[in-house]
Amino acid sequence: MAPYARAPASRVDGAPGEQVPTGDSPRVQDGIAVIFDEASSYYRRLRWEKNPVVLVEKAQTHQVLVEELGSGPVGTALEIGCGPGTWTPLLADRAARVVALDLSPKMLEQARAAVAAKHVSFLQGDAAHFDPGTTFDLVMSVRVLEYVPEWREIIARLERLVAPGGRAVVITKTPVSVWRGTGRSRWFGPRNLLRRLLRHEMDPGFWQRHLPVHELTRAFAEAGMVDIRVRPVILGLPVYVRGTKQYPLVPAFAERPALAATQAVWKWVARRGRRGRLASLIFAESYAVSGRRPAAPDHAASRATVS
Ligand SMILES: C[S@@+](CC[C@H](N)C(=O)[O-])C[C@H]1O[C@@H](n2cnc3c(N)ncnc32)[C@H](O)[C@@H]1O
Repeated sequence: MAPYARAPASRVDGAPGEQVPTGDSPRVQDGIAVIFDEASSYYRRLRWEKNPVVLVEKAQTHQVLVEELGSGPVGTALEIGCGPGTWTPLLADRAARVVALDLSPKMLEQARAAVAAKHVSFLQGDAAHFDPGTTFDLVMSVRVLEYVPEWREIIARLERLVAPGGRAVVITKTPVSVWRGTGRSRWFGPRNLLRRLLRHEMDPGFWQRHLPVHELTRAFAEAGMVDIRVRPVILGLPVYVRGTKQYPLVPAFAERPALAATQAVWKWVARRGRRGRLASLIFAESYAVSGRRPAAPDHAASRATVS
C-alpha cells in the first residue's frame, strides 16, 4: 500500500478529501483519521438526520441492525468504527459491557457526549491492529470497512474477537454508492476518465472501496463464521434531490411519494427469502453480512452456509 499524505479539509459520505501519495507521509489510516476528525462536526446530521431521505435511510439501517443483532441480553459487545455513536446505543441496550472503537479522536468525543453510559467505554485505535485479548458476544461495524485497506484482516480477526456462540454484523456500501458523493467524480470525472482510457493508475486518493458481496461473505466463512446471511440495507437508487449529494432525478415535490414507494419495496424485500434479498442487492446502496461463531460443541459439525 502506497503511503498517503494527510488529507486536507473534506467531507465524508458526501465528498472525501484529496489524499496525495508521498514518500515520507504517514499511513493511509492517519489521513482517514484526519478526514473523519474534520467530518465529526457535521457527519451525524448530514448522513443520518438532515432531511427525509437520510431519515428513511437511517430507519432502514436501524431496522436491519435490530433484526441482525437479536434482542440480547449479552455480556459483551464491540463496535468497530463507532463514529459519533450513531448505532452504539443498540449495543448499550443489549450488552452489559460495550467497547466502542474508532480511529478519530473527534468522532469519539462526539460519541462520548451522545452515549453517556457507564458500561460503554470508548477507545481510539485502528481496527486492523486491534487486539484486546478478549472476545465479545456481539461485534458490529457500520459503514467502516470500505475505508480500511486492511478490511480482510479485520474480518479475519472475527475468529478471535467473536465469542463462541456470538454474532458479528457488518454493514458496508455497494457500488451503487459510487454514484453518490465524490465516488462519482473520482471514477467518472474528466481526469479519471482520461486515466482509465489511458489505462493509467486510478486516482490514488480514491481510497474508499466497495467490497464485493462474495468477497466479504467468503472472508466471514474463512474466519469460521456460520449461518452467514446477506441482505440489502439501504434500498433505493441515488435519485433524490437531497440526501448526501445525490443525482437530482426526483424533484423535491415528488420526493415524499417516491420515498414512501421505496419504503414499501424495502418492506416487501425484507419479507422475501434468500433469493429475493440477493436479487435486490442490485438496487441497494449498502448491504449487511452477519454470521455466528459456532458454540464450542457444535464447532466441528457446523458448516459455513450463506443464506
Ligand atoms: C462513515 S463513518 C461511520 C460511523 C458510524 N458507524 C455510523 O454509521 O454513523 C466511518 C467511521 O469509521 C472510522 N474508521 C475508519 N477507519 C477505521 C479504522 N481503521 N479503525 C477504526 N475506525 C475506523 C472513522 O473514523 C469513522 O468514524
